[in-house]
Amino acid sequence: MSGGRGAVATVVGLVIWAAFGFSVAGTLAAGQQRASSAPLPDTFDFGHSATPEEIARLDIDVMPDGTGLPQGSGTVAEGARTWAQSCSGCHGPEGEGATAAPLVGRDPDSRRVTVGNYWPHATTLYDYINRAMPRDAPGTLTPDQVYGLVAWVLSQNAIVGEDAVMNAESLPTVVMPARDRFVPDDRRGGPEVR
Ligand code: HEC
Repeated sequence: MSGGRGAVATVVGLVIWAAFGFSVAGTLAAGQQRASSAPLPDTFDFGHSATPEEIARLDIDVMPDGTGLPQGSGTVAEGARTWAQSCSGCHGPEGEGATAAPLVGRDPDSRRVTVGNYWPHATTLYDYINRAMPRDAPGTLTPDQVYGLVAWVLSQNAIVGEDAVMNAESLPTVVMPARDRFVPDDRRGGPEVR
């Protein structure tokens, strides 16, 4: 009996799918016909212009000079607490690396790329952690937590002191050890390309 009901359900399902399929095919056919015989309309009457609030939510880039850094601040000690809760599981208790990359290390000859031996701009730390970390829950940290983590990572790399406070004013003034290992790419094409 239940088999019979299942068969009926399947038939109903097929009928619905068939109807759906035909309507999609019909829409496509109509669309193709319009595309080939008449110009497309100016708008398709769906979606809406992005509001300033919607743009602000996505506009989170932080530039090397600090443009884009939000209000807020964090200390090394605060960062240490957030690190233990949200980061150490993958990057190791001291940032030495575990399943994920090490963030600590100043040796420029090391084969392990770290914040201390490779990153040219301190502000990138804010940008990256804010948009991408923790890897399993990006976007969950507050600006104060991100500033604290930035302070802690920089302190672990002996780039700032243990009493450092990071915010929109102090972070862009931090000079990274790897700053001069990069040159501005000013190539324009042609013979000046190195
Ligand atoms: C679930 C694991 C996981 C957690 C938790 C996590 N990360 Fe990561 N993180 C990664 C992975 C994976 C990468 C990609 C780089 C790699 O491992 O090669 C990465 C990359 C990074 C990088 C860039 C490293 C580089 O030199 O390219 C930073 C900085 C960073 N994480 C900071 C943090 C901070 C701060 C936290 C805590 C808020 C955190 N991560 C939590 C997995 C994790």
